[in-house]
Amino acid sequence: MRKFKIAVLSGDGIGPEVIDQAIKALDAVGQRFGHQFTYCHALVGAIAIDQTGDPLPEETIKACQDADAVLFGSIGHPKYDNDPAAKVRPEQGLLRLRKTLGLYANLRPVTIYPSLRDLCPLRPERIEGVDMLIVRELTGGLYFGERGRSADGQTAYDTCTYSYFEVERIARIGFAEAMNRRKKLTLVDKANVLETSRLWREVVQKMAPEYPEVAVDYMFVDNAAMQLIQYPGRFDVIITENMFGDILSDAASVLAGSLGMLPSASIGAQTSLFEPIHGSYPEATNEDIANPLATILSAAMLLDSLELYAEAALVRASVAQVLDKGLGTKDLNPRILCKCSELGDIISDIIEDTEMHSLRIEKIKARQSTII
Ligand code: IPM
Ligand code: MG
Repeated sequence: MRKFKIAVLSGDGIGPEVIDQAIKALDAVGQRFGHQFTYCHALVGAIAIDQTGDPLPEETIKACQDADAVLFGSIGHPKYDNDPAAKVRPEQGLLRLRKTLGLYANLRPVTIYPSLRDLCPLRPERIEGVDMLIVRELTGGLYFGERGRSADGQTAYDTCTYSYFEVERIARIGFAEAMNRRKKLTLVDKANVLETSRLWREVVQKMAPEYPEVAVDYMFVDNAAMQLIQYPGRFDVIITENMFGDILSDAASVLAGSLGMLPSASIGAQTSLFEPIHGSYPEATNEDIANPLATILSAAMLLDSLELYAEAALVRASVAQVLDKGLGTKDLNPRILCKCSELGDIISDIIEDTEMHSLRIEKIKARQSTII
């Protein structure tokens, strides 16, 4: 039996609901394969500000550092979004956590499940063969540069800084991932305007000869935004700086049918962190309608990081199976509408290989037929 300690940072909004489903999936994996996952829950985001005044309390950092992996829900609350003068913000918690744990690379795979093809607004032939990985730099650039206001408050600035080693270490991950995939790497930048982008190109061009099997190309971010929609199948691995990666990955989620489908892994110096790419969806808080699949798929990435590959594959296969059966939350416009918690129950039943999942599906169907 193997034992793993997982720090769980549910955060705000729908975070706790989707995290609960990922924990069910991990526990089911534990049952099936005889592993033991123990969870250490810690505060982050708006809820942490409410309870402690700090979006990332010291205890939370410690819980993450002591763990084998971190599972993260989502953060953000409208009361801060609508108050530009707020001194503390929930997002600072996540950003400081990424920086403190040295999580400089964020891996965002974009996978299209066949049963969700109709959800993509693009014509079916356009998404044929789409399977990409966005490697987003996570601890540099505009997110962490010097920022401020002029004395009269009328001018504001954010600065974008990258150093050679920061670009090199993320590019290494991009090249390594490309070697394990279709061996194509696209650097997305704005080198026709930005000096930092020219540094990125310089570094990647210098490294390219070390990976002769990888076909490297370079694309300006405005063009990349267009190509992602026009010819998404042309991308394999994309590497890009922090802000471009944030924006392009939300755009790419449309290909998968819903923002609720995209998981991510943040890796770096210490403990890795796994989180869905979506936000806290405050309107849906406690409604049990959020899509838990991005978080469950993030748990699959967590299992991969613990070298539990068969376990991770089973979680992914279970997700594919529920989708094939036409089950899903509202955002997936499914044939059989499930609540967030129901989807988590069914997936964990499938992982544990119990017959319960068929019973639960029948129950949901029966409920729907009475409504109709
Ligand atoms: C993401 C989110 C975060 C980011 C926010 C919540 C700070 O949008 O993980 O993509 O911008 O990095
Ligand atoms: Mg984002």
